[in-house]
Amino acid sequence: FQPKALLGKRVLVTAGPTFEAIDPVRGITNLSSGKMGFAIARAAREAGAEVTLVAGPVDLPTPRGVARIDVRSAQQMHDAVLPRAVRHDVFVATAAVADWRPATLSEHKIKKDGKKLAPSFELTENPDILAAVAALPERPYCVGFAAESENLLAHARAKLQRKRVPLIVGNLGPATFGRDDNALLLVDEQGQRELPEGGSTADKLSLARQLVREIAARIAA
Ligand code: C5P
Repeated sequence: FQPKALLGKRVLVTAGPTFEAIDPVRGITNLSSGKMGFAIARAAREAGAEVTLVAGPVDLPTPRGVARIDVRSAQQMHDAVLPRAVRHDVFVATAAVADWRPATLSEHKIKKDGKKLAPSFELTENPDILAAVAALPERPYCVGFAAESENLLAHARAKLQRKRVPLIVGNLGPATFGRDDNALLLVDEQGQRELPEGGSTADKLSLARQLVREIAARIAA
């Protein structure tokens, strides 16, 4: 008999992309499928935790026993997460949050109307949800993700410092968005470790289960 590693713990997870509206029919988004975050929510629930999943626009079923809150923009994700974060033991930020949004939202569809010039958009920065949670006085154990196209380890190390979180999980897979398998690089102050070990890949649910075990061990320590 294996005791459930997160029994009695509360886990908050963000997943998926965000969508930043330009006008009523257009917006800026990214290719995150939400699969890794949904797998983590499921694995945390299996490990006995009470799980809240804040999801951007994705096409995935809610894992059994998980409370789901659907949002669209980064600001909405921020507003759903921040008031809840203090009541959680763990926060796992897997969402691929848009860093910027259009500075103004056009009320009506932007038309070509014979204009020769393409419209240009001013962008404004979105709130950094993970950094905001990590700055709370009674903060949960915070885990960030890093999806980079180059220099993963250096970027992950920089994120540990910049966001002041104890653990950053890097996506080692070359094109992880939308895939079912991946490899992860766990980076903390002490060093780094690959999941799975030995340079192979694994499906996202088995990676999520391993990551949940790792997080459970860290909060118990
Ligand atoms: O800042 P960057 O996108 O490089 O960091 C990625 C990590 O920070 C991920 O865990 C992501 O979920 C989180 N993040 C966030 N809010 C943002 C940007 C990123 O929570 N606005």
